[in-house]
Amino acid sequence: MYRTHTCGELRISHKGNEVTLSGWIQRLRKLGGMTFIDLRDRYGITQLVVDEKATEYLKATVSKLGREFVIQTNGIVLERQSKNNKIPTGEIEIDIKSIKVLNKAETPPFTIQTDTDGGDELRMKYRYLDLRRETVRENLVLRSKMAILIRNYLDSLDFIETETPVLMKSTPEGARDFVVPSRMNPGEFYALPQSPQVFKQLLMVAGFDKYYQIVKCFRDEDLRADRQPEFTQIDCEMSFVEQEDVLDAFEGLTRHLFKEIKDIDSGVFPRIPYAKAMDKYGSDKPDTRFEMLFNDITNIAKGKDFGIFNNAEYIVAITAKGAAEYSRKQLDALTNYVKRPQIGAKGLVYVKYNSDETFKSSIDKFYDSTDIEKWANQCQAEPGDLLLILSGDKFETQKQMCELRLEMGRQLELIDKTKFNPLWVTDFPLLEWDDDTQRYYAMHHPFTAPKPEDIELLENAPDKVRANAYDLVINGVEIGGGSVRIYDSALQSKMFKLLGFTEEQANSQFGFLMNAFKYGAPPHAGIAFGFDRLVSLFAGLDSIRDVIAFPKNNTGRDVMNDAPSQISDEQLKELFLRVELPKD
Ligand code: AMO
Repeated sequence: MYRTHTCGELRISHKGNEVTLSGWIQRLRKLGGMTFIDLRDRYGITQLVVDEKATEYLKATVSKLGREFVIQTNGIVLERQSKNNKIPTGEIEIDIKSIKVLNKAETPPFTIQTDTDGGDELRMKYRYLDLRRETVRENLVLRSKMAILIRNYLDSLDFIETETPVLMKSTPEGARDFVVPSRMNPGEFYALPQSPQVFKQLLMVAGFDKYYQIVKCFRDEDLRADRQPEFTQIDCEMSFVEQEDVLDAFEGLTRHLFKEIKDIDSGVFPRIPYAKAMDKYGSDKPDTRFEMLFNDITNIAKGKDFGIFNNAEYIVAITAKGAAEYSRKQLDALTNYVKRPQIGAKGLVYVKYNSDETFKSSIDKFYDSTDIEKWANQCQAEPGDLLLILSGDKFETQKQMCELRLEMGRQLELIDKTKFNPLWVTDFPLLEWDDDTQRYYAMHHPFTAPKPEDIELLENAPDKVRANAYDLVINGVEIGGGSVRIYDSALQSKMFKLLGFTEEQANSQFGFLMNAFKYGAPPHAGIAFGFDRLVSLFAGLDSIRDVIAFPKNNTGRDVMNDAPSQISDEQLKELFLRVELPKD
């Protein structure tokens, strides 16, 4: 038997017991003739003591031990002289009678403890050592607990967990596919699923009524803190339902998780239509933990000699409470912030509403205080506040102001990290226009149903059509998204046409789905949550990498096993592939 107890289990009540433990050596300390060893496993740390009276053999064994050696040890539980109240086993120690080295270890490249000295890349390269650290492992324990809670909750609502293929035909979700060549079908490729969207709709045609799957999805897109090339969705679909039923079920699931994991009653989630979210926050995933709402001052700021405003489609201001004291240096830094290429504003206009009720702005030349007072009124600014103003193309300016609002929220410490603000964003536009390709794209995906009252706009004003599509947003993070689906093949054909598909293209890509719809498709709707994002939110982490056991770095590499990598000529040959790399 390797162990009678784990390293996190023993308490003062075990005093006098003979025990056997196994684990890794976290730390070795010599104090006079005594040696103290911190023995670690998944469950905790227990202190071992080898005292002066130990046999020479035991002392010799201990002298050869090193950090991260795997040992088995046997001894008696003693009450400690000086107790450590920081760990649950801190009242006891083990007086060691024997030690067996189960495996030696090389000195690890970084310290395996909460405050490690290892940098990001190094920890990724030795991820299995990083995962030995309690803080990292705890994130994965949380992930496992959440998955079980989700399964039990959805099971209690009669959802059936069904696996769908990983080798499939490409799904049109907007990102690039990862493709897999087929040896048995020369020149042909599978795609890894960006999501199981079409399969879950087929399961509805099959009468499954309620489907879910905690499922890996793959998207070849640019990576960010909240994006990985392979990630996990809690994917669901329901039949004979409307938007309200889906929101109900998944608000219930989210509330259940908040209650079980955080003991938070999250109440009824507010809902905000897409158009309002854009107007007030410049974002379809607003962080509502603080206010600082947008004020459209386009109409009152035009008409003077300031060409930049006169030529702008849209002029927007936010009020930074109590920030009128910002120095020249701070304002320059903000201007540089919005001018960074990632944000792309041309400049920033500010108005200081001084505490003596005078105004000082960066455009004093063009506007007198009566003009500026109007803006201040519209923005409900008070003496001591700072107005920050951006202008230009509407959509671009909204995005830029959204970034500036978040930055001001951080600078003025308005974001309460202990707070969770969930909300539904609804009524997304059905389509978005792309200037480069001069065509419409489905904002969610091509199977999303238009709002019935907007269907008549499809012919002449497609950009005005709203969809029965919704996102769950928490603290400014898009946690999930879904929609009511089209289940009528005539409307689906019309949609493909709008998206610029010829009949042949639509048939070759989605013929199987359109055919299936001919055999009695029920009205259906669904949603998918990003599971990694949900777990990292609950864990209070900024990056989803920390809740994935073996994540990729930001160039999509697994630095531990060095994937992706080249394959042999032999493999290429049998797949009928030839690689031609660009010359430089
Ligand atoms: P959507 O594309 O909105 O919807 O994806 C659902 C959720 O998945 C998460 N997500 C990601 N998480 C990590 N890394 C990524 N690269 C990544 N991409 C997306 C987000 C997102 O909200 N089939 C539809 C759902 C439906 O209509 O039912 C879909 O996939 O949290």
